[in-house]
Amino acid sequence: MSFPTHRPRRLRQSPAVRRLVRETHLVPSQLVLPMFVREGIDAPVEISSMPGVRQHTLDSLRRAAVEAAEAGVGGVMLFGVPATRDAVGSGADDPAGILNVATEALVAEVGDALVVQTDLCLDEFTDHGHCGVLAADGSVDNDATLERYAAMGVAQARAGSALLGLSGMMDGQVAAVRQALDAEGFADTLILAYSAKYAGAFYGPFREAVDSQLKGDRRTYQMDPGNGREGVKEALLDVEEGADVVMVKPALPHLDVLADVRASVDVPVWAYQVSGEFSMIEAAAANGWIDRRGAILESLLGIRRAGADAILTYWAAEAAGWLREEL
Ligand code: PBG
Repeated sequence: MSFPTHRPRRLRQSPAVRRLVRETHLVPSQLVLPMFVREGIDAPVEISSMPGVRQHTLDSLRRAAVEAAEAGVGGVMLFGVPATRDAVGSGADDPAGILNVATEALVAEVGDALVVQTDLCLDEFTDHGHCGVLAADGSVDNDATLERYAAMGVAQARAGSALLGLSGMMDGQVAAVRQALDAEGFADTLILAYSAKYAGAFYGPFREAVDSQLKGDRRTYQMDPGNGREGVKEALLDVEEGADVVMVKPALPHLDVLADVRASVDVPVWAYQVSGEFSMIEAAAANGWIDRRGAILESLLGIRRAGADAILTYWAAEAAGWLREEL
């Protein structure tokens, strides 16, 4: 009998050794908490398909953001749920629109304790639920939408948003918003480009969260899940247009794209662990089929290992609390 020459198990022999040789770490500042704020409610509304996640009032939003800051998360990403909608999404760039009002309130509350970020897309504000305005034939009009995004970006910057999350997947959106921001004196406002955003089934629970009016799908603007190279191309185009950060979304079904994008650009790369990824683990845990905390932390670590510098996740505050306990 001969002895094995290589013994990788040596590096796994104890918690202390494992901790010392771990390649990938997860820290609270790498987590961003997406939050929903709804106009016209006087108490938070639970989202049934996303246990533990709620549509906030302005007050409960402020409290939850302070808790997130105390847990050490890196930022919060705000989504607005307006009381009324129209064809062009007028509430999006109205200074009195719910998202802009909430942004101003939150920036006043948390200051620099975390980075207050806003979703820049029309779908929550349009009565047809698409991410852009429609042409006469019912298709989503790319270039007309860019003008709306530019106005929305300036309104969000004016409300105090530090980072705009461009999630609409229109061609040229980064350049259009960058130009408008610079022209209005907002040269320091950051742009996060949802570069490789795939169409698909994993956004289901989010549609309840924002009371989405969409009928049909977003396949003429969000990417086909079969395409990996195209995801890298989208990220490169966004960097060229001036994106400060690029993103891949959803995370778990597209980890290969995340790794390829990380290898191809020199700006931070983020990933969005979306509502469907969240709800799958919550549902399995609620049934006693999976260890909730273990599955959550493993999923986040895997997304980091694939190449994400930071992660948007509905577990941001809770996971940040766990990570601090483990230190
Ligand atoms: C569009 C947007 C969506 C999500 C984030 N921004 C919905 C969509 O593209 O249909 C989904 C996030 C999630 O599922 O958690 N404004």
